[in-house]
Amino acid sequence: MLTTRIPLEDELGDVLDKALQHAGLTADAAAVQAGVEVAKIRDAIDYRYDLTPGELRRLAGVLRLNEIGFCALAQEQYPLPEIGALPFCVWPLHMTHGIGVANAYVVGECGGSHGLLFDVGPSLAALTAVWPRSIKTVDAVFLTHVEAEHTGGLCDVVERFNVEAAYVPSAGQAPCGRPLGEGETRTIGDYEVTAFSTPGHSAAHNCYLVRASAAGAGSPLLISGDLIFAGSAGGGYFCQRQLRVHLRRVLESVPANTVIAPGHGPLTTVENELRYNPFVA
Ligand SMILES: [Fe+2]
Repeated sequence: MLTTRIPLEDELGDVLDKALQHAGLTADAAAVQAGVEVAKIRDAIDYRYDLTPGELRRLAGVLRLNEIGFCALAQEQYPLPEIGALPFCVWPLHMTHGIGVANAYVVGECGGSHGLLFDVGPSLAALTAVWPRSIKTVDAVFLTHVEAEHTGGLCDVVERFNVEAAYVPSAGQAPCGRPLGEGETRTIGDYEVTAFSTPGHSAAHNCYLVRASAAGAGSPLLISGDLIFAGSAGGGYFCQRQLRVHLRRVLESVPANTVIAPGHGPLTTVENELRYNPFVA
């Protein structure tokens, strides 16, 4: 079992801030609609929480959020699932960048020396510092989106590991990358990797579903980049509406037992996020 009990990427204030943007509401407008003092909403966005359960429920209604997950965040008790058996090993690589932490992932046969790499972190040095020592060969790289904290060292990684192919979302461009678009699958060794084109956080963004080629083998893995986090979603810097549409589409397109490996924060599952994620109302 994988245990990566790292903190959630977002707390209540972050989710509230994003939800206001998604809903296209100012704090003042939400306050009026929910019957909550606007100062309490502003305080919450600044991580000072004084909202009652009733106020949280009314805000969830106005902002069309999952009430259970939203209220659980307020109590710092957002539920995280046990991560069950996968048909391969996953190495989450956590790298600090600025004030945050970005995740990359290696997927490979347990005990083997080959791996697939999903995102590369801010630099080759940052990646090397957390690299799993048993993995000597990278058979392919897949990027969720081109942002410094996730793809900073791509060309260096390609050179260092002599990587044959590095895939990037087809609407984007990255030196050393080649495009992969909606529904395209690459079979590499024992793995099938299928791209979902999921613009929203950025204009070019992919999620990747990773399956073992052998039939009936364990849970799939969804590399979700900055679309879905445990208990939250990425910022909709390109388009809030598209981000929400793709978030739901992807969660409903893959098996419920799929393990989600996000670009920030801990692992979760599709079943858990369909049930509790504030942005899945
Ligand atoms: Fe990110």
